[in-house]
Amino acid sequence: MNIPVRLRRLRRTAGIRRLMEETSFEPRNLVQPYFVVPGQGILKEVKAGYGLWHVSADRLVEEVAALSSAGVGGVMLFGVPDEKSDDPKRLPHQLAPLTEGIQRVKDKLPGLPIFADVCLCSFSTHGHCGVVEGDEIVNDKSVELLSQFAVLLGKAGVDFVSPSDMMDGRVAAMREALDGQGLDQVGILSYAVKMASAFYGPFRDAAHSAPSFGDRASYQQPPNNRREAIRELKLDEAEGADALLIKPAMTNLDLIRDAREVSDLPLFAYQVSGEYAMIRAAGDAGLMDFERAIRESITSIRRAGADVVISYFARPMLRR
Ligand code: PBG
Repeated sequence: MNIPVRLRRLRRTAGIRRLMEETSFEPRNLVQPYFVVPGQGILKEVKAGYGLWHVSADRLVEEVAALSSAGVGGVMLFGVPDEKSDDPKRLPHQLAPLTEGIQRVKDKLPGLPIFADVCLCSFSTHGHCGVVEGDEIVNDKSVELLSQFAVLLGKAGVDFVSPSDMMDGRVAAMREALDGQGLDQVGILSYAVKMASAFYGPFRDAAHSAPSFGDRASYQQPPNNRREAIRELKLDEAEGADALLIKPAMTNLDLIRDAREVSDLPLFAYQVSGEYAMIRAAGDAGLMDFERAIRESITSIRRAGADVVISYFARPMLRR
């Protein structure tokens, strides 16, 4: 047969395929999330196999050291306090396990990039990401409090604060607050596109952060809107973000590509708890090969344009 172009020539042997591969991921491209809890000696997976780890500050170091020596790109830390409060004066106390964890990891592994989430949902009595008055999530007071939150993490030695609250103007306000405290070396990885998504379910169990009334639709973005997402990306860059984050990842591959095209900042995508759980559950049900499916998903997120993938798969990949 006369078939002049035969793409299968490029796929014929493993060596050719390896040579021609366009996208891949290495340990350095992955960031592993952890949930830092009060107490001592705690290292516990919230549900076996589903990748969400509660860890106390004392055990965080050994845990992270193992991933670091296996080449992980960084860690993303979330604080989960034992006491919920809406009193800003309680915040330093509520954040103590997280700030202690940051200090310990920085001390032992100074070269490993540490990111920490900035959001009120795990800390407040109402489980919303900002300050609540009546049934409203008030923007500007939230921004003030979140900026104080960022400064506390900056003082503890975090490399990047990662605001995930989705209030307006918080990147600029945090930059100013950090700089005002001499923390100009602390970066901001902004959750620029964060959809009001069903895929955060397992996270909210781990972080004890489900809203007690209503939902997050007045501050997180509607998954329906592409132009709005692009405005968020541009705005966060203009406000001084050092890197941009999009989440969930697999439902927003088009926006990861858009972000790659509209911005030259480093681009992060968060393969969130529900994405990981979905693949894991399908693997557990014998419907597909978990390992192949999760690797394919991360490769696709990288192909869409993400430099870094925050994924619960980093740990199982690197600790065998
Ligand atoms: C906090 C926050 C959430 C996630 C990251 N930061 C949950 C939410 O907005 O309810 C989700 C991450 C995941 O599902 O893995 N605002």
